[in-house]
Amino acid sequence: MNADFQGWVKSHQLQIESYLQNHLPAENHAPKRLHEAMRYAVLGGGKRIRPLLSFAAGELNGADETRAIVVAAAVELIHVYSLVHDDLPCMDDDTLRRGKPTCHMKYDEPTALLVGDSLQSLAFQLMAEFSLAENPKKQLEMIKQLAQAAGSRGMAGGQAIDLESVGKMLTLPELEFMHIHKTGALIRAAVMLGAYCGDKLSEEQLDRLDHFAKCIGLAFQVVDDVLDAEATTAALGKTAGKDAEQNKPTYVSILGVKQARELAKALQHDAYQALEHLGKSTHRLLQVTDFIVQREF
Ligand code: IPE
Ligand code: IPE
Ligand code: MG
Ligand code: MG
Ligand code: MG
Repeated sequence: MNADFQGWVKSHQLQIESYLQNHLPAENHAPKRLHEAMRYAVLGGGKRIRPLLSFAAGELNGADETRAIVVAAAVELIHVYSLVHDDLPCMDDDTLRRGKPTCHMKYDEPTALLVGDSLQSLAFQLMAEFSLAENPKKQLEMIKQLAQAAGSRGMAGGQAIDLESVGKMLTLPELEFMHIHKTGALIRAAVMLGAYCGDKLSEEQLDRLDHFAKCIGLAFQVVDDVLDAEATTAALGKTAGKDAEQNKPTYVSILGVKQARELAKALQHDAYQALEHLGKSTHRLLQVTDFIVQREF
């Protein structure tokens, strides 16, 4: 990570942290335990990759940052809800997340369930409360896209496939379908909603951006699978080696680490190609792409 990119990442991570701080319900407001648990799950951790993508795509499309930050926060809230539920005993049964005890370990399972529910609602509240586009129809379309990305044809659907695939040998197209949904859909929404906050790109350019988003969404989960097999619990801030332990089909179980890494590289290349000819303002998106593929946590 070069110093310029590092500075950009840091300053946008701080911005999103403080925006989330200010828009999550206060801990001293009833119901206090639920509000405390929501803040515990959201604040002070995570790479904030999805918000960074919203900011970078917004930058490419000339969006005002006061708009991009709203979609960045909404997508991050949905993401955190998905993590809180993903860690529950009825799903991946994890005890460590972002270097801390998972939400249900720190609080309890019913609270963790409600944290997820409430974070999802808050995300849509923000999307409806603040102006994201001049045209209200466009804003409604953005809200619909987030709903689709989070729902049974997006993240939640991907999670359902993940759970029913335990112990099964999936084909590559089946595995791709699962990953595109459980992780790709929300990453794609982070990029496209960030972009929709602006209006410089043509329809054709937005299509290319969409292709870019699909490539990095899949690459993200391929790398997550590799890291689960190769990185340490300390580096990840979540328990390593869980996929193999729980008999989950992953890119590593099906292709092996070496080929999974090669696939991530190929997707990085496709992502780069999709952004060709979109001008100099693509540089942040390209830097985030490199980070997604090269990260060690
Ligand atoms: C982990 O996402 C869950 C997946 C969708 C693979 P991240 O790796 O973005 O987790 P945080 O937000 O940095 O904790
Ligand atoms: C989770 O995938 C994807 C979502 C939370 C939607 P994983 O189960 O692989 O995520 P980690 O590895 O627990 O972060
Ligand atoms: Mg999971
Ligand atoms: Mg998990
Ligand atoms: Mg994983």
